[in-house]
Amino acid sequence: MNDAVLSPPPPGTQGGPKVLLEVFGCQMNKLDGELVAGALRKAGYDFTDRDEEADAVLMVTCSIRDQAEHRVHSHLGELAVLKRSRPELAVGVLGCMASREGSALLQRWPALDFVAGTRDFPKVASLLDEVRADRVRLVAVDGDPRVSEERDLAVRPHRARAFLTVMRGCDKRCTYCVVPRTRGFEVSRPMHEILDEAKRLVDDGVTEITLLGQTVNAWGRAFGSSLGDLFHEFERLDGLRRVRFTTSHPEEMDERLVAAMAACRKAGLFLHLPPQSGSDAVLRRMARGYTAARYREIVQQLREAIPFVQLGADIIVGFPGESEDDFELTYQLMEDVRFSQAFVFRYSPRPGTPAFGALVDDVPDDVKRARLATLLDLQARLASERHASMHGEVHEVLVEGTSRRDSRRMFGRNLAFDRIVFPGDPSLVDEYVHVRLGESTALTLAGELVADPAFAG
Ligand code: SAH
Ligand code: SF4
Ligand code: F3S
Repeated sequence: MNDAVLSPPPPGTQGGPKVLLEVFGCQMNKLDGELVAGALRKAGYDFTDRDEEADAVLMVTCSIRDQAEHRVHSHLGELAVLKRSRPELAVGVLGCMASREGSALLQRWPALDFVAGTRDFPKVASLLDEVRADRVRLVAVDGDPRVSEERDLAVRPHRARAFLTVMRGCDKRCTYCVVPRTRGFEVSRPMHEILDEAKRLVDDGVTEITLLGQTVNAWGRAFGSSLGDLFHEFERLDGLRRVRFTTSHPEEMDERLVAAMAACRKAGLFLHLPPQSGSDAVLRRMARGYTAARYREIVQQLREAIPFVQLGADIIVGFPGESEDDFELTYQLMEDVRFSQAFVFRYSPRPGTPAFGALVDDVPDDVKRARLATLLDLQARLASERHASMHGEVHEVLVEGTSRRDSRRMFGRNLAFDRIVFPGDPSLVDEYVHVRLGESTALTLAGELVADPAFAG
C-alpha cells in the first residue's frame, strides 16, 4: 500500500500559475493529493508535470520508512539548485513529513517556502498565495482533526473508481509506526457525510468505491456503528457495484462487519489484514495486541463466514530482537494462511515512535534483506500455486488500464482484488468484462474475454 507514486493531476486549462503536485505514500495520501488539487483548482491554479514549467512544486509526503523520506529530501536538493536560477519558484512540503518535522524542515532546506501537515490541506491554496505574493516562509501543522473538505469531482483520476476517507488518524500505538504521530488521533466521519459523498461520486460515474482508514474496520465505534452498517447502506445505492476497504486491524474485526461482508453482494472479497509477524514475542514488542494463534483464529472465522474471501498481508522483517526462530514463525504463518498478496518491509526505525531509542535496531541489514527475499520467494510460490488452481474460472473484472508490458493487453481486478490481464483495447477502461482464466505467473492471472457472462464463481 505504500509505493511512492507520482500522480500529478492532468494539466488544466485555466491559465493560472502552474503547480507540479507530487504524491508519495499510501492511498490516503493519493486521496489527500486529490483534495489539494481540488482546492488549488478552485483558487485558480493550473497543473503541470514538468519541473521547468512549474511556478510551484508541492509534495504530498510519506514518513513511514526512512526511504520514503529520503526521496523527498533528494528532490528538495534538486529544487534548491533549480531555485538558484528561478528564485520565484515556490516549494511546499505537505502531509506526513510536514506533520512529523514541521519547522525543522524549513530550517534544513532554505529553498523550502512552506510546510502544511496532514490536517492542513484546506489551507494549502491560501498558503501558496501568500508565499507567492509576499515571499514569506510559513508553517501550518495544527489543523482541525475533523478536517473535511468539499470534494472537487473535476480532479478525480479515474472515472469508475474512487477512494473515500471514512476515518482519519489512528488510536493504536504499534511501537514501530509513525502514523499516530503524523495523522493524529482517530476520528470517524459521520455516516451521513460518507453516504452523501458516495452518492455524489456515483452520480459522477463511480461504480467502485474504496473506503480508507488506518484501522478502517474500527470505523464508527465511537458512535455505536460498524463498517458493516455502511455496507448495508451501500447495497441500496443504485449504480454502485463494488465497495472495498483498507486497512483492517486484526483485533478490530467485528461480527456485524463479517456478517455484512458475507451478506452484501457489493462488498469486495478481499481483506487487507496485516499480521506484521508470526512470533508472539515480536508481536508483543510491536504492541499489536494479538498473538499469532489469535490471528489464525480470526482468519479461520473469516473464512468460515465468507467462503471466497482473500487476505492481504503486511509483514515487517528485522524488528528489534527478531531471532531466526521468530522469523521461522512468520514464515510458517504465511505458509499456513496463504495470503493472496503480501507486502514485506525491512524494519526502519522512525524518530518519535515508541520503539525508537527504546529498542535497539539490532538485526543487521543483510539479514533483513535475506529474510525479506525469503518471504517474497515463499509468497511467489504460494501465489503461483493459487493462480494455477484458478485456470478455467470466469471472473468479472473492472478494467483499469493498458498492461505496461504489452500494449495489446488490458488489466483490471476481480472482486477479490486479483490483478487479471486479457487482450483488449483502451475503450474497455472503466467497464466490467468477464475473463476466463487460462495462464498465470506469481504476479498475474491472464485469460480471454468471454461474451457470455454466466459467472461460474
Ligand atoms: N494502518 C495499517 C498500515 C499502516 S502503514 C495497519 O495497521 O496495518 C503500512 C505498513 O507499513 C504497515 O502495515 C507496516 O507493515 C509497515 N510499516 C509501518 N512502520 C514501519 C517501519 N517503521 N518500518 C518498516 N515497516 C513499517
Ligand atoms: Fe500504525 Fe498500528 Fe495505527 Fe496501523 S494500527 S497506522 S501500524 S499505529
Ligand atoms: Fe500514509 Fe505514509 Fe503517512 S503510509 S499515513 S503517507 S506516513
